[in-house]
Amino acid sequence: MSFDNEKFVALQAVIDGLKHEQGALMPIMQKAQDIFGYLPEEVQNYIAKELDIPVSDIYGVATFYAQFNLEPKGKYIISVCMGTACYVKGSQQVLDKLAEVLEIEPGRTTKDGLFTLNATRCLGACGLAPVIMVNDDVYGRLTPDQIPAIIDKYRE
Ligand code: FES
Repeated sequence: MSFDNEKFVALQAVIDGLKHEQGALMPIMQKAQDIFGYLPEEVQNYIAKELDIPVSDIYGVATFYAQFNLEPKGKYIISVCMGTACYVKGSQQVLDKLAEVLEIEPGRTTKDGLFTLNATRCLGACGLAPVIMVNDDVYGRLTPDQIPAIIDKYRE
C-alpha cells in the first residue's frame, strides 16, 4: 500500500521536531498513527530509518501497547464491554460469539474492512449488562444468539 506524500511530509516534520528528545519513540508513533490512522509496515520502516533503530523495536512497542493499531480499523468498531457487571452477565460468551460470527480474534479487523472487534472496559451502561457498542449504537441485555442478526444489519 502506498500513502500520499503529504502524510510522509507531516510525519517527517514530527520526527524532526522530536527526534533529539529523550523517549521520543512513543510520541512519534502516536503522532504517526494520528496521521495515517494506523501504523502500517511502511510507516514503521520509515520511523526506524529516521531514528536509526531496528524496526523490531517499533513493532515491539506497537504490539505491547493497546493504543497502537497495526492494521486499519473497520468501518464498524464493535466494543464488547468486559467490565464486571457485563462479565458476570455473560459478556465473554457474547465476545466468543462475535469472534465466531466474524471469524476474527478480538483486536482484529475482518478482511472486508467492515468490522473491528474490541474487548473494552466499562461502557457506562451497566444497567443494560451485558452491553456492546457498534460505533455509537448501544445493544444491551444481550445473549449470544442475538449476535448474528445484529451483525447482519451492518452487512446490508
Ligand atoms: S460493566 Fe459493562 S457497561 Fe459497565
